[in-house]
Amino acid sequence: MVAPVCLPDKTALDKAASLLERGGLVGMPTETVYGLAADAANPDAVAQIYSVKGRPAFNPLIAHVATPEDAFAQGDFSAEARALAAEFWPGPLTFVVNKVPETTVCDLARAGLQTLALRVPAHPVAQALLQRFARPVVAPSANPSGRISPTEAAHVATDLGDAIDMVLDGGASQVGLESTVIDARGPHPILLRLGTITQDQIAAIWPGVEMGGSEGKPVSPGQLLRHYAPDAALRLNVTEPQPGEAFLGFGPGEATLNLSPSGNLIEAAANLFAMLRKLDTDHSRIAVAPIPDEGLGAAINDRLARAANSGHDK
Ligand code: TXA
Ligand code: MG
Repeated sequence: MVAPVCLPDKTALDKAASLLERGGLVGMPTETVYGLAADAANPDAVAQIYSVKGRPAFNPLIAHVATPEDAFAQGDFSAEARALAAEFWPGPLTFVVNKVPETTVCDLARAGLQTLALRVPAHPVAQALLQRFARPVVAPSANPSGRISPTEAAHVATDLGDAIDMVLDGGASQVGLESTVIDARGPHPILLRLGTITQDQIAAIWPGVEMGGSEGKPVSPGQLLRHYAPDAALRLNVTEPQPGEAFLGFGPGEATLNLSPSGNLIEAAANLFAMLRKLDTDHSRIAVAPIPDEGLGAAINDRLARAANSGHDK
């Protein structure tokens, strides 16, 4: 049976919360991408997520909560981390912190780690569901592992509809890229996954941000190659597409689809996954226009580089 896609009225939200309560899986809109939500305290439900996504079993998940106070009750936040949370929560920033002994997020959700990833999403439907459920909810992007992340309820229904219980329709995700992830345990934050909140924005509140993954530092699995993979072959930084290639444009000019005709990086980020997905259904080769490697462009290029490196041999 295919999961129903429901508008988020009171009845649907109550039903979603009770499904979570019973270990069900619910497609949940957030401002970044749609998440596949489950009770973070229920290892059976969390195992179901790994299974449905086909995700490597030891990839830890982000726990979503309604308020910063709820997050501080699960993990150990320094004064600097709290200041950063005050600036960007609710919103697309995830903190990796040490768990507190009384955390309710189960081991499987943390992949056995003593650390915990936490986020307070801003989307009103995510907020409504989290407030009703009143406990942490894990929600990786609601797509099979290695596939393009969903930014609309219909994407979730298409990809996972027969394996989950319900999808809440909260419209198109505004941001279109997964949250920025930082390791907030030390004296300086370490950037583990690029996202819409930039290194400079973080440094303005908490100076000394370092990039993860260099000098033997641990790398978040979100940084592994082959994470964002369309079936089509992807060629990047293309100014002149070849015959037979679909062209994903940026800025003025001819294109099959255009991330942002006006060259707006925020608009481009919001369109990225949906347009890649659309081109991937009709074309075997996609050429992508150069995207300036500044601000949000760095996150877009990061995603595109992964997709280009993993397009073929899945
Ligand atoms: O925007 C988002 O964050 C979306 C929406 C649905 O909220 N969610 C999302 O969740 O992307 P998820 O569970 O797929 O994100 C997992 C990312 C991975 O990069 C993972 O390695 C990192 O968070 N992560 C989670 N727990 C971690 C930990 N304890 N240490 C290091 N990285 C961790
Ligand atoms: Mg994902």
